[in-house]
Amino acid sequence: MDEHVLLHMKGISKDFPGVKALKQVDLEVKKGEVHALMGENGAGKSTLIKVLTGVHVEDEGEIYFEGKQIFTNNTLQAQKCGISTIYQELDLIPELSICENVFLGREIMKNGMIDWKATEEKAKALLLDMGIKVDVRGILSRQSTAIQQMVSIARAISINARLVVMDEPTSSLDDKEVKVLFEVIKKLKKQNISVIFISHRLDEIFEICDSITILKDGEHVGSSAVKDITKLELVSKMIGKDASKIISRKKSYNKDKMSSGNIIETKNIICGPKVRGIDIEVKKGEVVGLAGLLGSGRTELARLIFGADSPQKGEIHINGKKVKLNRPKDAIRHGLGFCPEDRKVEGIIPHMSVKENITLAMLPRLTKMGVVSKKEQEKIVNKYIQALKIKTPHMNQAVKNLSGGNQQKVILARWMCMNPELLILDEPTRGIDVGAKTEILDLIEKLAEDNISVLMISSEIEELMHACDRIAVMRDGKKVGELYAEAIDEEAIMNSIAEGHNSFA
Ligand SMILES: Nc1ncnc2c1ncn2[C@@H]1O[C@H](COP(=O)(O)OP(=O)(O)OP(=O)(O)O)[C@@H](O)[C@H]1O
Ligand SMILES: [Mg+2]
Repeated sequence: MDEHVLLHMKGISKDFPGVKALKQVDLEVKKGEVHALMGENGAGKSTLIKVLTGVHVEDEGEIYFEGKQIFTNNTLQAQKCGISTIYQELDLIPELSICENVFLGREIMKNGMIDWKATEEKAKALLLDMGIKVDVRGILSRQSTAIQQMVSIARAISINARLVVMDEPTSSLDDKEVKVLFEVIKKLKKQNISVIFISHRLDEIFEICDSITILKDGEHVGSSAVKDITKLELVSKMIGKDASKIISRKKSYNKDKMSSGNIIETKNIICGPKVRGIDIEVKKGEVVGLAGLLGSGRTELARLIFGADSPQKGEIHINGKKVKLNRPKDAIRHGLGFCPEDRKVEGIIPHMSVKENITLAMLPRLTKMGVVSKKEQEKIVNKYIQALKIKTPHMNQAVKNLSGGNQQKVILARWMCMNPELLILDEPTRGIDVGAKTEILDLIEKLAEDNISVLMISSEIEELMHACDRIAVMRDGKKVGELYAEAIDEEAIMNSIAEGHNSFA
């Protein structure tokens, strides 16, 4: 046994009804390294992690940790071994304070009572050590996702974890927050703590990871040091075919669109501190991107346009007519669709099937005299399962059993199948693998060809460059710039976010 190896998972297999999620998978993680686990949506990454951390019990295989065989049949056992997890969906208790969350179940005691002062001080010191300054008495749910993650990591460190597992920790962070997380990861490395890191963003893998294990359809298809593999080789391994055509591509602005009518136009709309007077328009068949940092007001603007919130001032025009949208139903009636950012809160209904989830919004249309046309429903569901390559054994599978990225695709399908005039997409490819991402962006392009307009919020500049005819840049609740396809590049967008520049085709 190599003394540098911390974790060795050997021949792990795991079946779910109708799905072979893992087939004889091996994973070896060295001490003090950051090890990436890569693979398409549904490849088995989260399942492998859950086997390691005791959420699932493997059907076959063995796990060795620090040279000894371990049995992680529940999460507590895994923790006791020194394995801590930051899940794809955070599992902290939002109503409690930061310090309560860090020391949950392990509060510092004095004379049989919780010593709050000591507990608070220790939590504060831990977070400060990671470079995070916060009031540890603050309620967790009021903190940004980034801080919540840091709390989760602080908790891991405080239980003397030797291995911290991070399943898509960056998917809801902005660039600045990602930097902070990476600093924390570097500190963990210095303490010889290992990290398993899952992300669909290649740049991150190449920036922070030392080695990679690649899964495809539940099988181990390769391991390598990061320095020995190129992005292209990595993606090709993940998708099992040559990836040269899916990486980076650019659009040009079709000038005909400039003269088509507006499907939507906002005039100086104002709502609270986040939307401070915005004029924005989307023309028929145009794909408009909203760029900006987290908190710049993009989601709030989208909610106003969809009638989820009401503006205090200003006007919204749809197809040239002034409208008043009191609720999303009004917006849907006007031909709008909205795919929200947080699928857990506003999106999927976990226990319902893939079929029901996809056709949820269009059900009234499929219903004739109180009866749903099953044939029609299944036809549409099949079409979108294929178009978006949703990985599910059948359409009656409960959505909660799909992988994270495939759940996201179900929500996209729900709104795409409505054939809206304007589709608003908030972070449409969050958690979606590189291959499927290109397919989704291509699908957005096809929608535009069919004259469906798209307003798309994304934190990934590459994605905006790939899909948009035009990008509006937002900062602090205002539109500070506008870029047309030819002028869109990363630098232009970043400059605009920082300074507010315009550029016209
Ligand atoms: N509890 C479950 N019941 C049934 N099937 C499941 C369950 N959990 C996962 N699966 C299936 O196992 C396969 C692997 O899923 P997993 O969540 O491990 O993928 P992943 O690689 O993490 O994908 P993503 O990048 O989308 O998060 C998928 O086909 C998924 O539908
Ligand atoms: Mg996953």
